[in-house]
Amino acid sequence: MSEERSKIPRHVAIIMDGNGRWAKARRRPRTEGHRAGVNATRRVVRACADRGVEVLTVFAFSSENWQRPREEVSALMELFFFALRREARQLAKNGIRLRIIGDRAGFPERLQREIAAAEATTAGGDRMLFQVAANYGGRLDIVHAARVVARRVAAGELAPEDIDADTLAAHLSTAGQPDPDLFIRTGGEKRISNFLLWQLAYTELYFSDVLWPDFDSDELDRAFAFYARRERRFGKISEQLLDHA
Ligand code: IPE
Ligand code: IPE
Ligand code: MG
Repeated sequence: MSEERSKIPRHVAIIMDGNGRWAKARRRPRTEGHRAGVNATRRVVRACADRGVEVLTVFAFSSENWQRPREEVSALMELFFFALRREARQLAKNGIRLRIIGDRAGFPERLQREIAAAEATTAGGDRMLFQVAANYGGRLDIVHAARVVARRVAAGELAPEDIDADTLAAHLSTAGQPDPDLFIRTGGEKRISNFLLWQLAYTELYFSDVLWPDFDSDELDRAFAFYARRERRFGKISEQLLDHA
C-alpha cells in the first residue's frame, strides 16, 4: 500500500452545513439550498467511494432540527423521501450500502418504509458504507447504549465493574465500525452540534467555510490533504510512533 493510499481516512464524518445561507445569498427559499445540498451529497458519496473510504457518515437531520419552522421540516422530509427513492438503485449499482442511524421511529411511516426499502436495495454493497444520520443526536446515542447496558446489568448478565469503553461502544449506533478518522464541517461554524460525540474522541477535525451546496471533490481533497499531514498520537509522543513495537 503506497504512503498516499494509506493516508486516506477509513471513516469520514461530515456535518453538511450552510444550505440555508447558500439559498439566502441567492435570495431563494431555504428549501432550494437543501435541494442543492442533496446534489453535493451525491458528488461527495461518489468521490469518497472512488478514493477508497470505507465508511462515510453524514449528518442530515439532527434531533434538534425538529425545532425549525414547520414548513422547513416538512420540506426536508419530502426531500429525504424522494432522495431515497431516486438514489437507492444507483447506490446499489455502485456497491454502496446505505444505512440510516438515528431514531427513525420519529419519522412519518411512509418515510420509514422508504428508508427500509432503500436499505434493502443497497444491502449487498461492499465497496463503501454510506451512513446517514437522521433524527440523530450524539447524546441520545450514548443514552440508548447506557440503557441497553443497564438492562444487561439488571438481568444479571453483566457486572458493573466489567463495563468499559468497549462495552458502551458496542451498543452505539456505530457498533463494529472504526471511529471516524476525519471530521469535516462546512459552513464556517466550529462546533460539533451533538453529532457523533463519543466516536469523535480522537478524530482529526477539519472546518471549511464553503457552504455545503458548493462542496465538491476539490474541497474534499483539501480536507484529505489536511488529514494526511496530521500526526495522530493518541496520547503518545512523536518518537514513540516511529517504533513499530
Ligand atoms: C444544513 O444546512 C442542513 C440541515 C441542518 C438540515 P442548514 O439548513 O443548517 O443551513 P444554514 O446553517 O442555515 O446556512
Ligand atoms: C447540524 O447543523 C445538523 C446538520 C447539519 C444536520 P445545524 O445547522 O442544525 O447546527 P447548529 O444549529 O448551527 O449548531
Ligand atoms: Mg446550519
